[in-house]
Amino acid sequence: MAQPRELWKSRIGLVLATAGNAVGLGNFLRFPVQCAENGGGAFMVPYFICLLLFGIPLMWVEWAMGRHGGRHGHGTTPGMFHRLWNNRISKYLGTFGILISFGVGVYYVYIMSWTLGYTFFSLNGTLMKISSPEEMGLFLSSYQGLKSSVFFDGIGTAYWFYLISLGLTIYVLSKGVVRGLERLAKYGMPILFLFSIVLIVRIFTLGTPDPAIPENSIATGLGFLWNPDFSSLSSPKVWLAAAGQVFFTLSVGFGAIQTYASYIKKNDDIALNGLTTASTNSFVEVILGGSIAIPIAVAFFGIAGTQAVAQGGAFNLGFQAMPMIFQKIPFGQVFGTVWFFLLFVAALTSAVAIVQPFMAFIQDEFQCSRKKATVFTGAALFIFCQPVIFFLGNGFLDEMDFWLGTFGVTVFAVVEIIVFIWLFGPNSAWKEITRGADIKVPRFFYYVLTYLTPVFLFVLLGTWLYQSGWDNILLKKASAENLPYVIGVRAMLVLMLLGLIIGVKHSFAHHRLKSRETSS
Ligand code: PHE
Repeated sequence: MAQPRELWKSRIGLVLATAGNAVGLGNFLRFPVQCAENGGGAFMVPYFICLLLFGIPLMWVEWAMGRHGGRHGHGTTPGMFHRLWNNRISKYLGTFGILISFGVGVYYVYIMSWTLGYTFFSLNGTLMKISSPEEMGLFLSSYQGLKSSVFFDGIGTAYWFYLISLGLTIYVLSKGVVRGLERLAKYGMPILFLFSIVLIVRIFTLGTPDPAIPENSIATGLGFLWNPDFSSLSSPKVWLAAAGQVFFTLSVGFGAIQTYASYIKKNDDIALNGLTTASTNSFVEVILGGSIAIPIAVAFFGIAGTQAVAQGGAFNLGFQAMPMIFQKIPFGQVFGTVWFFLLFVAALTSAVAIVQPFMAFIQDEFQCSRKKATVFTGAALFIFCQPVIFFLGNGFLDEMDFWLGTFGVTVFAVVEIIVFIWLFGPNSAWKEITRGADIKVPRFFYYVLTYLTPVFLFVLLGTWLYQSGWDNILLKKASAENLPYVIGVRAMLVLMLLGLIIGVKHSFAHHRLKSRETSS
């Protein structure tokens, strides 16, 4: 028998949970890499503009859509779109809001498990004994099963950490909104703040590690980040990177914010809550996240060195450069453990948020018990993650991330804006956003939402398709060797989408019958 829909228990719990949703690996790992790769202060200018032009507006749209849907018993976008736009296709458009969050969740949990593994290798001193950056690289790639080495000769260890991480994610989800998501955030977020502050105090007191190279210092690192460089405004590459980061870090465009917002009451505030989510996330990203990896890497490797590390790959900074640095500072073993555990906690509060839409879909639309939904969700996550684990070296994860995390979120954001603002109507949308608001949302945002955000998103999408998107879509960038895997990813995504479409069709047919029964 289905349980009634849960609601958040307290406002502070809600704020911590949605902050936990947004604050994740994006803030501590992805942000520093993107920022360093795109010129530091040069990245920050488009980043803040994107935050204002579509990050915060989309946050409001998703909160409003979520609360509206929740009132009608829908925690995911198929039902939400259907309520906003009474058209046969609206619910099918909404399936993307489950596909994207769930699909990213599949590999997010795997990446999270690396941070758990590395917490352990820091704690037991393994990482302190690795003597060169090359060996550190070998450690990571053999851990991931890409090569065999003296450290690991197979995927076994990583697999165990994956199972533990998946188990924890599923355990939290199985406890529901209040005792699972809300409780995790109440413990997790304070730990996250505390651990970042501990790291920052340590890092800021390092000064200039090598007196022979005075320009490599913490201050130089901070200057790299904070000296704005307006020349980047004319670089499409930097704009696209900044926009991609804003989507990922705020969790907008995934369909995940809506689900969290569906657990609040009809007249509860969303304007202030949405803004708080966005500003807490940006604070954690720019102030806390920005004070850890970049300054310390610049202090040890210089600006050019840090940029080279960032260009080396998404995980080089966090999993290779950082452990090398921790070897060089007093109590490095402790601080290294703090770093990886911080990443793990940040990831866990996001992982549950990214998977919750799928859970909610099963519970809300199939009247399934939480227990059954948990088992089904866990099994689906596990099965779809297998190729990600075993074909990592063949670009499986990257291709998934391209379709869902880059292309998918941008297109879905455009669709959301069209459905919520244009089809539902700008005035109804504005009313929905401002009803019960604890702050006065400046009227200026009405125009931003109605005109500026959609136009901006269209231009973004067009530029991206022109710059690199088409080539990727048309398989021009895949190596011959990876081609079968790239096609495999696409087939898997199509399969997932079909499954969701059938699910939506089935559940809606069922719903309609039921409502006819009750009305007769
Ligand atoms: N915002 C999270 C991060 O920065 C990722 C995420 C996306 C979480 C979508 C939930 C939903 O890591």
